[in-house]
Amino acid sequence: MSKVIAIANQKGGVGKTTTAINLAASLASLGQECLLIDMDPQGNATSGLGVNKNTLEKTLYDVLIDEVLLEDVLQDTAIDWLDVAPSNTNLSGAEIELVTMESRDKRLRMALDKFQKIYKYIIIDCPPSLGLLTINSLVAAGTVLIPMQCEFFALEGLGQLSKTIFALMQEYKLDLEGVLFTMFDSRTNLAAQVVEEVKKFFNDKIYDTRIPRTIKLAEAPSFGKPAILYDPNGKGAQTYLDLAKEFLSKQKGKDK
Ligand SMILES: Nc1ncnc2c1ncn2[C@@H]1O[C@H](COP(=O)(O)OP(=O)(O)OP(=O)(O)O)[C@@H](O)[C@H]1O
Ligand SMILES: [Mg+2]
Repeated sequence: MSKVIAIANQKGGVGKTTTAINLAASLASLGQECLLIDMDPQGNATSGLGVNKNTLEKTLYDVLIDEVLLEDVLQDTAIDWLDVAPSNTNLSGAEIELVTMESRDKRLRMALDKFQKIYKYIIIDCPPSLGLLTINSLVAAGTVLIPMQCEFFALEGLGQLSKTIFALMQEYKLDLEGVLFTMFDSRTNLAAQVVEEVKKFFNDKIYDTRIPRTIKLAEAPSFGKPAILYDPNGKGAQTYLDLAKEFLSKQKGKDK
């Protein structure tokens, strides 16, 4: 069975998609077969992996709404062992159409259940909202990875986060995979302060690996590449590789 991980935080722009792309690409480069599911109508994970989101015949929208098989929408990527289930703006319609559908919160899980191909890890990039697309992602997932940006607003958002994503995690019996600091600048006092505060909430669930702010990580998607292909020796690519290794070492304790 695949392990399904939702990358979620209702706050926008905290590094969900950057983490989904680069963690999946790093795991795949370490020989772990991965699928990235793009549950965001912005389609950033899709284009960030080099898939042209405007010329797709079928996308995740068709899987969720018309029960097209997941395997029929999958796209290869430039990384061996990594495929993507792509999305584009069509998916924003699903948020509305799902409301009146049967099993409206289980559509992604049903699609994964029917899906025969075995991946080791399925990583879901969630949108920055708590609508039905995120709820479908959480219902389909076993664990949640929460990226957090080290800025003042992260602290303000902490209480909010515990009331929302955490409420949903409890409702759907999801484990916390881990909390990841993104766009981290170790030189600032604020970053250190945020780390201390967040530790009070999450303690041992925080990854030791912290993703630095680097221009290459921000540039890579516009070339349709994960950092590991765009700038393989750069700090961003190497740190996401470290994260993948830390992630894998933590699985050993979790596997049955
Ligand atoms: N470590 C980093 N260093 C520099 N820039 C980064 C880093 N991580 C993310 N970014 C940039 O910050 C912006 C937001 O990142 P990203 O799209 O990954 O966040 P998100 O949480 O998926 O956003 P949304 O909520 O809109 O889906 C993007 O322009 C991205 O390129
Ligand atoms: Mg995103």
